[in-house]
Amino acid sequence: MNSKLKILKKRLYELRYVSSASSLLHWDSNVYIPKNGVSSRAITNSLIDEICHKKLLKLDDGHILTELVQDLPKLSLEDAAIVREAFRNFDRSRKFPSSFIKRLSQLSTKAHHVWKEARDKKDFSIYSDILEEMVSMQKEAVDLLGYEDHPYNALIDDYEPGMTVSKLDNMFNGLKEFLVPFIRKVTSKDISWEYVIDGKFPISKQIKLNEDVLSVLGYDFSSGRLDVSTHPFTIDIAPYDVRITTRYSKKDLLYALYSSIHEGGHGIYGQGIPVEYFGVGIGHGASLGIHESQSRMYENLLGRSMSFINLLHKYILKYFPDFNKSPEDLYKIVNHVSLGYIRTESDEVTYNLHIILRYEIEKDLICGNINVKNLPEVWNAKMKEYLGVQVPSDDLGVLQDVHWSSGNFGYFPTYSIGNIYSAQIYNTMLKDIPELKGNISSDTLKSMKSWLYENIHKYGRIYPAEDLITRVTGEGMNPMYFNKYIEDKYTSLYELN
Ligand code: CO
Repeated sequence: MNSKLKILKKRLYELRYVSSASSLLHWDSNVYIPKNGVSSRAITNSLIDEICHKKLLKLDDGHILTELVQDLPKLSLEDAAIVREAFRNFDRSRKFPSSFIKRLSQLSTKAHHVWKEARDKKDFSIYSDILEEMVSMQKEAVDLLGYEDHPYNALIDDYEPGMTVSKLDNMFNGLKEFLVPFIRKVTSKDISWEYVIDGKFPISKQIKLNEDVLSVLGYDFSSGRLDVSTHPFTIDIAPYDVRITTRYSKKDLLYALYSSIHEGGHGIYGQGIPVEYFGVGIGHGASLGIHESQSRMYENLLGRSMSFINLLHKYILKYFPDFNKSPEDLYKIVNHVSLGYIRTESDEVTYNLHIILRYEIEKDLICGNINVKNLPEVWNAKMKEYLGVQVPSDDLGVLQDVHWSSGNFGYFPTYSIGNIYSAQIYNTMLKDIPELKGNISSDTLKSMKSWLYENIHKYGRIYPAEDLITRVTGEGMNPMYFNKYIEDKYTSLYELN
């Protein structure tokens, strides 16, 4: 083997296995840590981060990485991906002086507290100054990173490599033109069905139900765990160790189920990536958008389909024999469309408009087209325009998300990219597995998992997201499949014709 490549792989291996410790701590901090352990944990975290950062910058010692980049066309597909990803990470981090990283981390810690206080008091003005500081640090980051065409491109690229403002504008306009009038039609329809579950579902039984459903979907409990955290997440800690979390409500068993199914989609992806990719830096999903496409596909395209609900209903009855909703009722409940204020509680029809609103605001903030001080007005006007709702207070509006206080500008679009990809991929998969539209059995779900493995999971980060989607579906990102899926499903459910 190429000796430079051999050295690079050894360095990557150490970097990845050390950062694996940080992943485990992150999981523990969200699942088990006692309250008083938090501050000492922060010290350990920052020391490990420092070690990883040093190891990352050392990837190019002796110029091996920058030289390997020159040789990219001569390398095998896998090796080229390893070098490309290593260089991408190295290149981004060398552009940030350590003083900048320190300042950003201090600012996020502070901003997080201020954001929480402002949200509790429903008062944006408490948060305004520190958010202003955060926006100006993001602008600094943009200058340090450099960009083509649009400053926001520098920020999205961190989460969704290759994605740009011009592609997103195009896609989001396609969504908006369809969704805004369609949602008006759906929500003005008088429906008589009940859409709330208000029962008694002991959590010990719910845990068993969630584990059963995850197993039939294909999540492997011998290489994973299901635990409880405030905000559900999935984490790839190491080979054969991909964990997910959920949260429970004693009154509503769907609250946990759909979170679990979502995270299960992420988890099945993580467990499907070849373990030998882990130590060389390509053992991740192709991008956040592709990752989210897998979770959304399990949660929505599959999970909220009548075919799957027939199966799910049997599982529910196994643990809750008195459950009094029919599969048809359940289908209506999980597909109820409502005009809400909160992104994380929104349904699959309105969800993307919540994202588009954030995307447009982020872009305008980074370009200096709007002032932080005016954010509540801007936010509320867009909510009125897109969803027709009047936001009653800032905690239900501009203060609802944690992302900006952590400095995660450019992250939001990946949720919608995931939705678009999920419909596009599902459309292709249905041609090979038409049973997904009929009677779904555990074998159908095995076929689905194998299909996803063969077409997506086994490639880890070998292909950039857009190349992967083109390989799988025969075309680049196309919002039409999502629009068509929504239009067909909800026209029929809401009897719009
Ligand atoms: Co997700």
